[in-house]
Amino acid sequence: MASTQDALYRRIDLELSWSERELPERERTKHVHRLHPYLGKFIPQLVEVLVGRYFRPGQHVLDPFAGSGTTLVQALESDLHATGVDIAAFNCLLMDVKTRTYNPFVLEQDLRAAHARVGELAAGRLPTYIRRWYAPQSARELLGFRSFIEEYESADVLRVVLARAARSARRTTHFDLDFPRAPQLEPYWCYKHRRECRPVETASQFLRRYTQDTLSRLNEFSRVRARGRRATVIHGDVRELSLGCYDGLLTSPPYPGLIDYHEQHRYAYELLDLDDLREREVGAAAAGTSRAALSAYSDGIVAALRNAKKALPENAPVVIVVNDRRDLYPEILERAGLRLEERLRRHVNRRTGRRAGEFFEDVLIAR
Ligand SMILES: C[S@@+](CC[C@H](N)C(=O)[O-])C[C@H]1O[C@@H](n2cnc3c(N)ncnc32)[C@H](O)[C@@H]1O
Repeated sequence: MASTQDALYRRIDLELSWSERELPERERTKHVHRLHPYLGKFIPQLVEVLVGRYFRPGQHVLDPFAGSGTTLVQALESDLHATGVDIAAFNCLLMDVKTRTYNPFVLEQDLRAAHARVGELAAGRLPTYIRRWYAPQSARELLGFRSFIEEYESADVLRVVLARAARSARRTTHFDLDFPRAPQLEPYWCYKHRRECRPVETASQFLRRYTQDTLSRLNEFSRVRARGRRATVIHGDVRELSLGCYDGLLTSPPYPGLIDYHEQHRYAYELLDLDDLREREVGAAAAGTSRAALSAYSDGIVAALRNAKKALPENAPVVIVVNDRRDLYPEILERAGLRLEERLRRHVNRRTGRRAGEFFEDVLIAR
């Protein structure tokens, strides 16, 4: 006889799994979704389907673990308002830059001016982190760019460009850009390109390329987002914030022991002098997966969902995308006062990076 849990599992005719051919990378990373790399995002097409099924145009969706802002961007494209919360300052900067409305003339003027100034060099002593991870020329180019950012109204956009260039210009191997442990100072055999590659020496090529790319991606998004819909970004610990009022929740929460969300953008924190609140991350990889860490993780998610629930009307949809291989979520939802209504399984197509291979995740629908 099927258990209650099995009965909740449904492979409904909702299309949630896509092959690489059906949904190529350029579609998954269309317009602003590729403004800066981010490990651990879900794909906009999944959000699109879920938003279409559980929300109506004009409603307001909350993502309490908003990350790089996939929910917010897709909500704007799908004619909804959205609010995203995240504990990591860089993630908040990134989603804010993706979802703001711009004066297109000012944006273009600022980015063209910054593009023309790439190559201005900073003088003086280099900070320790910068000295360690960048070739001297790259370091002076990145700091040179940083020194004029404040002069422009589009300063936050330029900060994201700087962070993206800083990520690419680190002295790492091409196959370990996510979490390099030590700088790569010598030429090395590159598995990705199947030849000898050299660590990067200059950053100006990235600064130029990403300034142009960012401008065209922001313009592309401005053409497809719904008029009159707005995104709000809140930086803080979602367990403690006093939230507004929303029609439902859609999120992919952190999972224990997988990713350190501040550390993956360490260069951005170093260069942009952002607030580091890593000790408030729920489920940080650094905390491990001991019994105590898993229990702290469950308590953290319960507290976050309880707090978010206060901001929702009775019976509002709570849609959670997670690879719950430890089966923590049935209990988490119950403790948060939520009723699990459906559990959908989707196959995740992963071609890139060291995490290739078969991978499934669940979409939990609670109320
Ligand atoms: C799986 S990621 C979300 C990714 C997102 N769906 C996307 O597509 O980019 C989980 C996020 O939860 C954030 N987070 C962890 N602890 C938090 C807390 N206490 N309050 C708010 N956000 C938190 C992390 O910084 C991370 O960005």
